[in-house]
This record gives sequence, C-alpha cells and structure tokens, in this order.
Amino acid sequence: MLVLGIETSCDETAAALVTDEREIRANVVLSQLDEHAPYGGIVPEIAARSHIEHLDGLIARAMRDAGAEFGDLDGVAVTAGPGLIGAVMVGLMTGKAVAGVHDLPFAAVNHLEGHALSARLSDADLQFPYLLLLVSGGHCQLLIVEGVARYRRLGTTIDDAAGEAFDKAAKLLELGYPGGPAIERAAEDGDGTRFKLPRPLKGRAGCDFSFSGLKTALLHKVRDLERGLDDGLRADLAASFQQAVADVVIDRCQNAIHTFQEAHPEGQFLVAGGGVVANSLLRARLKTLAEKNSLSLALPPLALCTDNAAMIAWAGIER
Ligand code: KG4
Ligand code: ZN
Repeated sequence: MLVLGIETSCDETAAALVTDEREIRANVVLSQLDEHAPYGGIVPEIAARSHIEHLDGLIARAMRDAGAEFGDLDGVAVTAGPGLIGAVMVGLMTGKAVAGVHDLPFAAVNHLEGHALSARLSDADLQFPYLLLLVSGGHCQLLIVEGVARYRRLGTTIDDAAGEAFDKAAKLLELGYPGGPAIERAAEDGDGTRFKLPRPLKGRAGCDFSFSGLKTALLHKVRDLERGLDDGLRADLAASFQQAVADVVIDRCQNAIHTFQEAHPEGQFLVAGGGVVANSLLRARLKTLAEKNSLSLALPPLALCTDNAAMIAWAGIER
C-alpha cells in the first residue's frame, strides 16, 4: 500500500509517500520559519497563503523523490485538524482533489494521532499499549495509546504548551524565534542553578502541565535586573528556565507512568514526540526516567518528531 500524506496544519508545508511496510519513499517539509520570524511568532494568514503557494509543487517533488505517479497511489491521508483553520483547509482541499480525481480512498487524520502513531513508523517492534508524551509548540499532553483510535488522555496543559513556553521565554530573553533551539544553545554556557524559578504543579497529583507561572517568573527576573540583559545573564536565565521545564515535564511523566503501569502492567514503552523532544536535556532526563521505571524509551528520529507528512500518511495506513 502506497499512501500520499499531506500536512499543513501550522507553519510547515509537508508531503510524504509511505508504504504499509514502513518504507518512507519521500518526506519533504518546507518550513515557513523565515516568513514568520520578523513577527516573533506564527501569523495564520501568512501560513495559509504560503501553503497555497508551495503545496502543489511540494507534492510533485515528493512524487518525483519516490519515483511514483498518481496511478501508483492506494490512498491519500491529510491532516484535518487541529490547527490554524486557513492552513488546514489548504491541505485538506488539495488532498481531497487528488483523491477525487484519481478515485482514491481519502483519510482525514487528526494531527495528534499522527504524532501519537509516528513512533510505530520508525520502530516496527513498538507494541500497544504505550505511554506517550507529546510536547510540541501547540500541544503538551500525556496519553496512553491503547491501539489505533484508542487514546486515553491522562493530562494536558492548563495554559501554555511546552514549546510555546520556550518560544515566549526566548522572546523575553531576546534570543529570537523559534525559542526552543535558541534557549538550548544559550543554556549551554549557563548556570541553571543561578536563578530560582518555580516548578508549576510539581509534586501535585495528576498529569496536567502548567507553564504560564514559570514564564511570568522569568519576566520578573528580567525586569529586576539592574543593568539589563547581557550574554552571561541570558545564558544563566536560559539554563535555569530549561531546568525548570524539564523538572516539570519529568515530574508529570512519573505520575503518568504510575497510572499507565497500574492500568497496563504489560506495557513496556515510554514514547516521546513533538518538537520539544529535540531538547538534549529533556532527552537525557527521559532516558533516566524510563530506566528507573523499567520501561524502554522510544524516541522517533527528529524528522518524525517535528511536524511532517510521513506521520500523517502512516496514521492513514494504520487507520
Ligand atoms: O512539533 P513542532 O515542530 O511543531 C508543533 O506542532 O508545534 O514543535 C515546535 C516547537 C517549538 O515551540 C520549538 O520552540 C520547540 O518545538 N523546540 C524545542 C527545541 N527544538 C524545537 N524546544 C526545546 N528545545 C529544543 N531544542
Ligand atoms: Zn505537531
């Protein structure tokens, strides 16, 4: 089975061709970062217009990369939400047109389901059920993935997503956009113990997340600086912030692991997905956490962690 996947829910225009034997025959992603960077965040109108400009060309390139023609396809799978509505509509209608013209089955895929199942594309041994930490710019959730279309949400953020928190913190520290990689780079030379920042919800029951108090605390630290920001202070603030986020995420994951292991004593895997998984500190802390709880940690390759269309094609195949 060869499926064309399309993803346009946010600021990546993406097309991919994937087979039911887990072969990724093409996976092209066009980031719009440069178009949004001057605004310090994603502008929905710009995102939608940019998808319109690029999506057809990107699909053609994916077909070329895969050496495939439309007649070789067995289906089309497209992100149908959640996302920026104008952006989602571009991918959805393009995918429907391709499916309609070539008389192919069409799968409308939930973006989060794409993230939830992507680890099974890269890892054939990954069996249900597993515990999933999904940390991206738009989402921050812990879910038990019991099977295809069988998801039990244990917790979600009550304010900002983890990636959003990184982005806002970077803006405060004048480190640019996207914030996650910028904070991580700045933190390399920093002292993460220099500034005391809160760990929202840490030690509390449940698996929800909260980051807005942490962001506000960072804002106050910056405002209280007598001589303003310099590179040394930026490094220490970035490192302190990154530590705080990691502490919160790991604490929430530990609670989720207890719930997961109680519900599914046979469960063996902790899976993490979403762009924030690129963070090295978080990856290291997750590895330790998994070992401590006798779970195997499955981290999909970064290209499948951040937004992409291969995960959407795969979710369509699983469906
Ligand atoms: O999954 P993704 O590509 O798109 C969404 O669905 O949101 O995630 C993007 C998010 C951004 O907020 C970005 O700042 C964050 O992931 N991110 C990171 C790192 N790289 C990307 N956060 C922390 N550390 C990183 N190295
Ligand atoms: Zn995403």
